[in-house]
Formats: sequence, structure tokens, C-alpha cells
Amino acid sequence: MRVDVVSIFPAYLEPLQLSLIGKAREQALLDLAVHDLRDFTHDRHRTVDDTPYGGGPGMVMRPEPWGAALDHVEAAGRTALDRPDASPYLLVPSPSGTPFTQAMAHQLADEPWLAFACGRYEGIDERVVEDAASRWRVTPISLGDYVLNGGEVAVLAIVEAVARLLPGVVGNAESLVEESHEDGLLEYPVYTKPASWRGRDVPDVLLSGHHGAIARWRHEQRLARTASRRPDLLDPSARISPPPNPDPG
Ligand code: ADE
Repeated sequence: MRVDVVSIFPAYLEPLQLSLIGKAREQALLDLAVHDLRDFTHDRHRTVDDTPYGGGPGMVMRPEPWGAALDHVEAAGRTALDRPDASPYLLVPSPSGTPFTQAMAHQLADEPWLAFACGRYEGIDERVVEDAASRWRVTPISLGDYVLNGGEVAVLAIVEAVARLLPGVVGNAESLVEESHEDGLLEYPVYTKPASWRGRDVPDVLLSGHHGAIARWRHEQRLARTASRRPDLLDPSARISPPPNPDPG
């Protein structure tokens, strides 16, 4: 898989050299290129932002460096993939994007080429997304219902969640199956040696060697944990919804 990331803080993406993702890059399972947006400016101060039209707080990212950076991503990725007609699937991290889920991680893991546009400040001039969407598939994507300072931390999380699903990245593929969010339930609690620690014993059933009983106990634990921590996963109507409009008229 090819992944391009454009950011004004390329150093933020350095953790993607570590651990399993770093190894996946060494093994060429993942070809990840990080691009500095400021390399696509033409003024002495390498300016990437300006005040918002219409007024309001903060700064907005100017479209010209973004246009040039994304054109470069297109050319670089086509060369790397040796596919002169290919286009990336562009993901734009934003708190107003579609919530990222494990199901989406699986969909993205099937893509040959992803690109990420990391916004900062109040966001990127809307025309950048419109222009990209006239040529490529584009999806604004949110890590969750909270606000980060920029898209970089979201990219770290999304790339890790996607790359670990690529064949060969996680050594024991079985460990990918029984995880939280793979089948709508949270994971069961896990224990290792010693069997007794600070007066706390590992549940007897796990020492019993009775595989059927262990599987049943784990399933019950998954249900109980999901009911207490994430009732919305069992009953979507339990999801927090916005308060009703007090004055519908
Ligand atoms: N940028 C700022 N906040 C974000 C969030 N919650 N998800 C993705 N990108 C973001």
C-alpha cells in the first residue's frame, strides 16, 4: 500500500518509523511518504495561512500550496506505483468528518493508495477539497467527537489501524479476529502468570483447561463489558442524540 501525508509538521509523523509499522515499511508492505506543505510555498516566509474571508477567529490554510502539494502527491505516487492513471483516495482529517471505525479501517486496507491532507488552524480553504474531489475520491474523516490541534494525530491513529490489517504486518493473523470492534462487541479481559497476584486470582475457569467453558465465559464477559461500557454498541437507540428542538415552530 502507498500512503502520502501532507503536513506542516512532518516530524509529527516520525512515530510511523517504529514498531510494526516501521517494520512493514522496511519490508515494503507499506510505502509511506511524508511531504512538508511549506515546500510548496513561494514566499520568503513560507506562508501557508491567511485570515478568513467573512471574518472570525483564527487563520485558514491558503489553497495554492495545497494545490501544488496534492499535484506533487499525485505525480510521486503514480511514479512509485508505476501506474500513470492511478489516483489516491484522499482522506482529510477533521472533527466534522465521518467517524473513523474498524469497518472503515478494513475498507481502507483494501485500497492501493491513500493520501492524507493534515489541516491546522481553522482548517483548509474549502476549494482545495472541491478541486481534489473533481479528480479523486475524497472523504473528510474524524477520529472522534473532540477537537485536536490538527490532522497529524488522527493520521497516526488511522495509518496504524489500517496498516496492521495489511497481510503480513501483524505476525499472528488470529490475534486480529477476537479484538474489540471486529464483531460489534468489546474484547474479553485477559490474564497471564502468576495465577495469584496481590491477592487477586485469575478466574478458575481459565485454569480449567475446559475449552468450551472458557469460550462461554469469554463471550459472557464480552457481553457484560459491552453493556456496561458501550451500551450504544448493543442498542443503537442508546446513542447520545441531540436534544429535541424546544420550539419546533
Ligand atoms: N482535526 C482536529 N480534530 C480532529 C478530529 N477529532 N479528528 C480528525 N481530525 C481532526
